[in-house]
Amino acid sequence: MKKVWIIGCIVLTMIVIHSCEKDPLISDPNAVSDYQPTRYHLKVPPGFPDYFSDENNPLTLEGIALGRKLFFDPILSRKDNISCGSCHLQEAGFSDPAQFSLGTHGGRTAVQSMPVQNIAWMPQLFWDGRAKSPVDQAFQPVANPIEMDLSWNEAVRKLQDDAFYPDLFSQAFGTTEIDSLLVSRAIVQFEMTIVSSESKFDKVLRGETQFSELEAFGSELVFNTEEGDCFHCHGSILATDNLFHNNGLDIDANLAPGRFDVTENDEDFGKFKTPSLRNLVFTAPYMHDGRFNTIRQVIDFYSEGVKVNRNIDNLMKQAHQGGIQLSEYQKEALEAFLLTMTDSSIVTNPDFSDPNK
Ligand code: HEC
Ligand code: HEC
Repeated sequence: MKKVWIIGCIVLTMIVIHSCEKDPLISDPNAVSDYQPTRYHLKVPPGFPDYFSDENNPLTLEGIALGRKLFFDPILSRKDNISCGSCHLQEAGFSDPAQFSLGTHGGRTAVQSMPVQNIAWMPQLFWDGRAKSPVDQAFQPVANPIEMDLSWNEAVRKLQDDAFYPDLFSQAFGTTEIDSLLVSRAIVQFEMTIVSSESKFDKVLRGETQFSELEAFGSELVFNTEEGDCFHCHGSILATDNLFHNNGLDIDANLAPGRFDVTENDEDFGKFKTPSLRNLVFTAPYMHDGRFNTIRQVIDFYSEGVKVNRNIDNLMKQAHQGGIQLSEYQKEALEAFLLTMTDSSIVTNPDFSDPNK
């Protein structure tokens, strides 16, 4: 009899636990009963690999709309003056035309802003790769004292006190209780929709058009291992290997730590994440410190400005002579090819614009 009673108790407890698990929203006083978000299917463009999807953060129209509003809203900064979009401007391919960006107190970032594009395919983010996913990245600018300088507690309180946000969170996530994770997830949903796949380069790969003679010659330089060999690092349809390299910008004495800050491995000193070659026409200046203002300056660097340092990558051809020694015509061709990776929809698509304007 006693045994039956104990088993009965265990079964009862399991039923209670199970029913809680089954519908966690029942215990949440902020839960919304008519939560029915509209799923959004992010298409993999032709020729692209599968993106990294986050099963905890399925894209929905409501989540994307909320993320877009948050991305452009200075409410996430201490002085209500800086949004993500202040340093990632749509007209600049979601990068910053300034060499360094200004934060909420007017201080400058230590490195150049990076374009927000095709982040659904990024296993690591930031120049040194310290963020392991887009959501991990989105957590960081708000609390960063130079950038937005708001503790997450304060940021959440501001959103919670806002007239519109609690309702927008309930539409996107089924709860009016805002937290940093939901804020980051919404922003990432919006960012994931910023896909660049409609450049001439893409259309040539899809067989829809052809390169001009000059562009075709430039593409040979990029893909030819004996010549430019750019594709070893800026390879794949994403125009980046998403890995870390030292491309010979500086001599030893001037190397910035880069990837070393994350791994503390001396071999990583002076290595940075390979940026994509997509949309360069919008995203100047170039390199982690924005030292080059034009594509031509970058080409001149790879041609005759490369410096040998202790960690320079083996893939940097003819580094001991300062670079790959291109003729004037080769430089023009290389630039013409790089410009085929321009996808103007990034800067014109109204879905990516500031919804608060
Ligand atoms: C004050 C300027 C500033 C603000 C505000 C800012 N960023 Fe950035 N962002 C940068 C800079 C600079 C980098 C490069 C930082 C680094 O590598 O250390 C960067 C890097 C990134 C990257 C990495 C891209 C890649 O290719 O790895 C993403 C994504 C990004 N920011 C999104 C955001 C989001 C989302 C917000 C708002 C929550 C935001 N940023 C706010 C300046 C800013
Ligand atoms: C060994 C790998 C490697 C090779 C080979 C290489 N790059 Fe790079 N590239 C990088 C890295 C890493 C950076 C970023 C370096 C930094 O900021 O410190 C970069 C930066 C760039 C940038 C600046 C992009 C931006 O948004 O700031 C351009 C443009 C570029 N490379 C073009 C080329 C071209 C053209 C070639 C071939 C002539 C080439 N690269 C060869 C690794 C490489």
